[in-house]
Amino acid sequence: MKLLSLVSTLLALGCTSAFAPSNNGARAVVSTNMAAAEELYIDEERRFLMNLILVGSGALTVGAIGVPYIAFFVPPGSGGGSGGIPAKDALGDDLFAQSYLESKPAGDRSLAQGLKGDATYLIVKEDKTLESYGLNAVCTHLGCVVPWSAAQNKFMCPCHGSQYAPTGAVVRGPAPLPLALAHCDTAEDGKIMFSPWTEDDFRTGGKGWWN
Ligand code: FES
Repeated sequence: MKLLSLVSTLLALGCTSAFAPSNNGARAVVSTNMAAAEELYIDEERRFLMNLILVGSGALTVGAIGVPYIAFFVPPGSGGGSGGIPAKDALGDDLFAQSYLESKPAGDRSLAQGLKGDATYLIVKEDKTLESYGLNAVCTHLGCVVPWSAAQNKFMCPCHGSQYAPTGAVVRGPAPLPLALAHCDTAEDGKIMFSPWTEDDFRTGGKGWWN
């Protein structure tokens, strides 16, 4: 009887193990799931990287186009500080007051590079100091550069005959407006500086037409 019960127990164990899932199969399923998860993770990482590149290049494009566009509408000198820039000579070098004044006679009006790169007259006063304003050399008629005539003591436009007084006020048309003003100062380091003239025009008593 005992022998019979042992045999039946062994048979039952054999049957159970025959129908139980093998460990190898379970391991295969787990590793497949892990591979899929890993692939998903890599995909997300790739997608994130692509989005980053896309957003970055978009921001660069918008910045490259947008910043100059916005800057175009910002009035000069509104960016803080004095808005001044150094006066430059024809070679693009900064001009220093002391050496400049040593090289020029009293009453001289010579061109320098001024605000926005406009040709601007520096004026040497009779006491051999710099005048507190510079004159934009662009004729207010049709935009020719107006030469200074020391002999005539006037600015005389060669294009259509307009004439300006030594201060830049119109003395003969067709120019409708005086030459634009810019402040002219000497910085602590000795450089000659131009900055925007936002006050009234002392020649007309009204607001400067260039503002
Ligand atoms: S451009 Fe100077 S007078 Fe016409």
